[in-house]
Amino acid sequence: MAGIVPKPSGPNKLFNNPGQKFGDFRDDILRDGYVVVKGAVPRERAEKYAEEMYSYLENFKGGLGFKRFDPSTHTEQYLPVINEKGMCSGYGVNHETFTWDIRCEPGVVDAFAKVFDTEDLIVSFDAVNFALPNRKDTKENKPWPHQDQDPEKPGFRCLQGIVNLLPNGPKDGGLIVCKGAHHLSEQFHEEFRDEPDKVWAWTKEWYGFSDRGMRWLADKGMEWVKVECEPGDLLLWDSRTPHYNLSPTGDRPRFATYTCYMPAADATQEDLLRKKEAFEKQLGTTHWPNAAHVRDVSQPLMRKDGTPCPYNDDKPRQPIKLDERGMKLTGISYITASA
Ligand SMILES: [Fe+2]
Repeated sequence: MAGIVPKPSGPNKLFNNPGQKFGDFRDDILRDGYVVVKGAVPRERAEKYAEEMYSYLENFKGGLGFKRFDPSTHTEQYLPVINEKGMCSGYGVNHETFTWDIRCEPGVVDAFAKVFDTEDLIVSFDAVNFALPNRKDTKENKPWPHQDQDPEKPGFRCLQGIVNLLPNGPKDGGLIVCKGAHHLSEQFHEEFRDEPDKVWAWTKEWYGFSDRGMRWLADKGMEWVKVECEPGDLLLWDSRTPHYNLSPTGDRPRFATYTCYMPAADATQEDLLRKKEAFEKQLGTTHWPNAAHVRDVSQPLMRKDGTPCPYNDDKPRQPIKLDERGMKLTGISYITASA
């Protein structure tokens, strides 16, 4: 199977043709910079995945004592390391069976295939989100409004996705977006190129909005919208759309996985080889499907008390098993023999 030549994006890739209408969710992304694709995962399967995620936590490393209905166990003592934004990306969780099953959901993959106008896609090995409400032992989840692409590389480059797995209403945390602000991204960065109060970024593929930047957006009439969705809904957003995440403030957790795909043809052979290595070592990546950033195993997962989590082995509980479509999504199928 190795060495398949991927079909590049066709002429109907999103944002290729100004004014183009699709008659489906793509029109919402064009207009608003984000959309909820309802029922991308059938509800019963979404509920099964949520149950598997609860089970993952309740049986974590043989069971550290976490119980979903007992809030006194919702602290780090009973859990893997989950940051204040709900993200968990050690322990090989990025390669658990439920994580891969969600990535391979046809309704999720097909949404990205439509956006990029090609079936030949690769997927990120991104984190999962276990945001438990009312955790007293995590630091405050301060808003960090940002874009997930390099301001020096304008234009539509990346579509990000979240598969939502529990009911997610106004108090349940999750994604908040600056509706329609993707249209203003280029103008914004021209005006803010030499801003003195630039927010520190750990990678070029990230831009943080300062208070001044936030005021600029508000002055342009841009509004922030907390996205609401049901189990099995797929949230999609253009990486230029400013966004951040909110913690749940009600009594329900938020469970979700981050799923991002790009055309295999847009990755270099070097990218694909790096991605293959990440896959074989069962390491996670950020949202960039070309494995732009791979987890550095020399960096231990730190607990809040400043000690490395003793449970992190960077391994999922079971070997990864994928069908042909899943293997294509790893990118390995597109590595040429001579690479
Ligand atoms: Fe982001």
